[in-house]
Amino acid sequence: MKVDKSTRKPSSANIIYLIKSNNDLIDLNFSREEVSYIKNMRKAKKDIVEVNRFNKRLYIAYYPGQVSVNQKSEAIRVLGNKALGFLNGSKITKVVVSSTSFSGNDIIAFVEGMVLGNYQFLKYKTGENKKVNSLEEISIFSKEVSLKDIDELMVISSAVYNSRDYVNEPDSFMTAEQLATEAKTLGDDSGAKVEIFTKKKIESLKMGGLLAVNRGSINPPTFTIFEWKPKNAVNDKPYVFVGKGVVYDTGGLSLKPSNFMETMKCDMAGAAAVIGGMYAISKLKLPVHVIGLIPATDNRPDGNAYTPGDVVTMFDGSTVEVLNTDAEGRMILADALSYAKKYDPELVIDIATLTGSASRAIGSQAMVGMKVNSGKEFVGLCKSADKVHERIVEFPMWDEYGDMLRSEIADRKNIGGAEAGAITAGKFLEHFTNYPYIHLDIAGPAFLAKSNAYRTVGGTGVGVRLFYEFIKSKVEG
Ligand code: BES
Ligand code: ZN
Ligand code: ZN
Repeated sequence: MKVDKSTRKPSSANIIYLIKSNNDLIDLNFSREEVSYIKNMRKAKKDIVEVNRFNKRLYIAYYPGQVSVNQKSEAIRVLGNKALGFLNGSKITKVVVSSTSFSGNDIIAFVEGMVLGNYQFLKYKTGENKKVNSLEEISIFSKEVSLKDIDELMVISSAVYNSRDYVNEPDSFMTAEQLATEAKTLGDDSGAKVEIFTKKKIESLKMGGLLAVNRGSINPPTFTIFEWKPKNAVNDKPYVFVGKGVVYDTGGLSLKPSNFMETMKCDMAGAAAVIGGMYAISKLKLPVHVIGLIPATDNRPDGNAYTPGDVVTMFDGSTVEVLNTDAEGRMILADALSYAKKYDPELVIDIATLTGSASRAIGSQAMVGMKVNSGKEFVGLCKSADKVHERIVEFPMWDEYGDMLRSEIADRKNIGGAEAGAITAGKFLEHFTNYPYIHLDIAGPAFLAKSNAYRTVGGTGVGVRLFYEFIKSKVEG
């Protein structure tokens, strides 16, 4: 998809007029009949009205009514996606988005809804099954939008597209090594440094959690470090993002029933969010030192797979009694969180499709967030989350929940009880941190069985826009 700025509206162009009220129709050169048609449609509560002029189509998109400021941006993104549906429905390839009454932010939100909604994953479709969306080009006709705004939107969108691609790729393609290669490709593009630890290096570091989960796999694990350290960084200590990169989660010997396994290629969505977020941050050269850590492997049963009852010595030297091999995310994240200590970080945020419990509790509308000593950072993150509509619901880090992880034979076990699974998972991870820390569980919003406005079916790329917005807020205060 191409988005540019246009200084004119050719008479043959398809145009979307963004307006606030029917008063704005006056300057738009519609005929009297057209105006009365549009007003009737508006009366019938339509927020997009299509006028067919045969050689071109004109659209009126009405500004959303009474909603709060953040909800308004979201309502406008959703409106943009709705307009996109009309355009693709009418097989339109190019459109001009024109507005004198929307602000620059609003117009960008509208176009963002269009661009994100136009994503498709067609790699494995062939012949007539490969139905490509028609829209290819959007020109923005407005003084309120700069080329810089458009560049930012396009980089963020391509980061989201990449992140969705990684999740939508089946694990036969997206192995741990492939995931690391994707990170390297994006790092090379943006000018960030990407280092990939191979199995040998991971063994020499004694990352016991990552190696235990990998024991059932015929593919080696990877541990990727994606670092953006600009000379003009505003921070002394880095922000660190850690993403769960389980490229496929069968559950291991604690095998998942197949209806729960079907979508488990999405179990590296946290890693995809970190790679996409790091790409946007570095490509747009935000002056902030940020590091992404991505432990990756698949989780499978096999002759050598780790077992329920096994005891694993982790990277930090502590021991874990594995009572369920399906609680594998926390095993690999724990090693990455311990590894993050060496950076003396300002804050570490992990992001993971960690528990069915999180998804059952709040569904796909939000992610679960938990915090430890994070001061104002959690409030700031929630603010960014509201802005980009990747919302966070806080769950408690109360110590009583941690008691559920006591083991008879090791330092702790890898599962709590039947209840509060999202919280005990967070408590498990907390043990491997000694810095300000936020844990995000995206098991609900990472992967959709059917599209939700501009969040297309399959991988959503959730987390990418959140991380970019959060790091940007460090620059702008
Ligand atoms: N990858 C799953 C969690 C998940 C479930 C992600 C649904 C996306 C959608 C995770 O590894 C897992 O299996 N968690 C178990 C933990 C349990 C064994 C303590 C769960 O949530 O059931
Ligand atoms: Zn699992
Ligand atoms: Zn998992």
